[in-house]
Amino acid sequence: MPPASSDEGAGPLVFAHRGSLPEHTLDAYREAIDAGVDGLECDVRLTRDGHLICIHDRRLDRTSNGRGPVSTSRLADLNELEFGGAPGILTLDTLLTTALDAGRPLRLLIETKHPTRHGAKVERALVAMLERYGLAKADPAVPVQVTVMSFAALALRRVRALAPALPTVYLVEYVPPGVRTARLPFGAEILGPGVGALRAHPDLIRYAHARGRQAYVWTVNSDEDLDLVRRMGADGIITDRPKFVLAALGR
Ligand code: G3P
Ligand code: CA
Repeated sequence: MPPASSDEGAGPLVFAHRGSLPEHTLDAYREAIDAGVDGLECDVRLTRDGHLICIHDRRLDRTSNGRGPVSTSRLADLNELEFGGAPGILTLDTLLTTALDAGRPLRLLIETKHPTRHGAKVERALVAMLERYGLAKADPAVPVQVTVMSFAALALRRVRALAPALPTVYLVEYVPPGVRTARLPFGAEILGPGVGALRAHPDLIRYAHARGRQAYVWTVNSDEDLDLVRRMGADGIITDRPKFVLAALGR
């Protein structure tokens, strides 16, 4: 039997992808919390001076009025810019404080980007920060439950070594043709297939459940994809349209 999909065991968990729109902004995260999502997704990268910030791309260009790589920028420089129309960059520190201040249980899916660029620096900084907030251990009394995600098995292995109590999601965008799903390098508690991978391999969720794992699917934005992930029994739905998904689930 698969593990229960939510605290109440009633339907899939709903996560706001990058907080939703504008992505990785405090306004988006607050709106998602107010809408009633179960959890929030964010991507983290390190600045040149070692701060964990919430941003998807390697470069600043798409989501800010700045240019150039994130990894060569200092936090003070990023705070001079606008991201999604808001002043300054969202730090993981601020996101954790916001989640802890929400006044209700929340899940936080934190995806580490480009784990090989900095050695294990990102994972070490992340675990150290979670430890400071008391979020790196399994403690049902803590209202914010953190799960770490990555496309890189290496990053997940590092996180498990540093903080064995933190659950992990192994993200899969593409299952190469001819590779049987049973041979995926899958050491995490949760499988995270993209909805395209699920369309191509509808047995992915069954595979995860048969191994006692859950499955969180991203990025589910249409009626058609929502229907697919519900039929396949996804335990978590990561979406850019949290209000649409919540309404479709009758919540
Ligand atoms: O939730 C997983 C998903 O966010 C992975 O893709 O590119 O949006 O980080 P990406
Ligand atoms: Ca992500």
